[in-house]
Formats: sequence, C-alpha cells, structure tokens
Amino acid sequence: MTDGVDRARDLLARARRVVVLTGAGVSAESGVPTFRGSQGLWRSHRPEDLATPEAFARDPLLVWEWYAWRRSFIARCEPNPAHTALARYLADHPTATLVTQNVDGLHQRAARAVRGADTGDADRVLEVHGAIHRDRCSSCGLRAVGAEAIDTSTPQTLPRCASCGGALRPDVVWFGEALDEAVIGAAFRAAREAEVCLVVGTSGVVYPAASVPEITRASGGSVVEVNPEETPLTRYAAVSLRGPAGSLVPHLLHG
Ligand code: OAD
Repeated sequence: MTDGVDRARDLLARARRVVVLTGAGVSAESGVPTFRGSQGLWRSHRPEDLATPEAFARDPLLVWEWYAWRRSFIARCEPNPAHTALARYLADHPTATLVTQNVDGLHQRAARAVRGADTGDADRVLEVHGAIHRDRCSSCGLRAVGAEAIDTSTPQTLPRCASCGGALRPDVVWFGEALDEAVIGAAFRAAREAEVCLVVGTSGVVYPAASVPEITRASGGSVVEVNPEETPLTRYAAVSLRGPAGSLVPHLLHG
C-alpha cells in the first residue's frame, strides 16, 4: 500500500492537470447509502419504480416520497474527511476539476467549509447526475432550491413551479434520460486535458460518467483508483489503492 501511495503521489505531483471522478463510495462514510453492493439502495428499491420519467408520470407521489426521504436524510449528513481533502486539493490546485456522480451536494458543502461561503468556482465541481436539493420544472425547466418538507398526501399538494405552475421534480438525472450536455462536455474536456484521473468510490458501471477515466487513459494520462473493491475501471488504473476513501484520500493528497 505504501508503494502504491508513493507512486500515486508521484503521478499527482508531476501532473499539470488532474481530474477527479467520484461516486457514492466517497459519501459512504458520511452515512449516505450507495446504490450497488449488499447494502445498496438498488437492492431494496426498484429504479424503474422510482428513478425514471415514466415512474414520475405514473406515480409522482411515490417518486416524491422517495426523493423527499433522501433529501431530508442527506441534509442531516456531513462531509467526511475525503470530501474535505478533495475540497482542499481543489482550492490548492486551480487547474483541477472534480466530476461527481453524486447528487448529495457534499463536495460543495466541504468546499464552502474550506474556502468560505462563496467559493466562486462552482464550475470546477461538475455534478453530472444533478443535485437532489434542487427542483426543476418538468414543463419550463426552471430550477430552484427545493423544499425539504414535501407534502406527499395528494397529487395537488406536490410542489409546483413558481413561474408556470408546471409539476416540479427533483433536479436529478433519471434512468433513460440524457445528461446535461454542457456539464458532461466540460467533464470530458477536463478528462482529455488531465494527466491523472483520480477515481474515488465508484463502481464504474454507469456511462457516460464511467468514461471519464477511460478518456484520460486514452489521451495518454494515468488513472489512480481508491476503492475497497476491484471495479471494471481497475484495469485502466496505474495504481489501485484498496480501502475506504475517508482515510485513504486525505493520506494520499495531504500526507
Ligand atoms: P455504486 O453504489 O454503484 O458504487 C459505489 C462504489 O463505492 C463501489 O465500488 C464500492 O466498492 C465503493 N465504496 C463503498 N464504500 C466505500 C468507501 N468507504 N470508500 C471508497 N469507496 C467505497 O455507486 P456509483 O458508482 O456512484 O446514478 O453509481 C453510479 C450511479 O449509479 C449513481 O450516480 C446513480 C446510480 O444509479 C443515477 O442516479 C443517475
């Protein structure tokens, strides 16, 4: 492990540009459930009932109940040492970009704690799957900060758009939906330009996000993976560090 950490540090020290890709595993030690694995959300919940446009059209009460539960649960979770170490790394390395598949907002909360209220560089944290604390109007597309308490007693009590009255939905990417082109485009650009892609806590099976390390690799860069388990991305990795992000990421980035 020490050898691996030294090699990874060496790669990071030589890189002019670094892209970081994170997944649910980076928030596991904050208490946010992951999706796959024995305790994962998709073990006990069917994505086709909860996380597709068809599910929302069929049963918006059920979909909102699930998102309201996750929203209030996540609001009570705190960034862990991996989020803080990554926020410090971004603050110290203005050319680094963080691409996250997480919708929990914990990277931004860590950034605000590290750098103060206005980080001024929200575009360096690219949330490719959206943000659970935001609503988006399913008619006009307007985005707004979402309420934590959602009245899911009848379809009439569900949140409506302040501008056009359309049905509000959580501003997250559902199965079968396209990612925001500007956001995923910026992530791919960062991946192409990076000499190192640091991958933390993702199973690496959901595309297009999982192509971020592949793009860095194909552009001549190196991949460093932090994950307790092997993943399909391991085969691209110059270094794989096996263990939890909360201890490995601070150790790797800040010694
Ligand atoms: P997954 O739940 O698929 O994978 C979580 C990964 O984190 C696994 O590889 C675990 O081994 C690893 N892990 C668990 N605990 C960890 C820890 N303490 N430190 C580091 N790693 C740990 O989550 P994602 O890869 O993020 O999409 O899933 C990708 C997408 O699938 C999600 O964004 C979501 C889901 O469907 C949407 O909702 C669109």
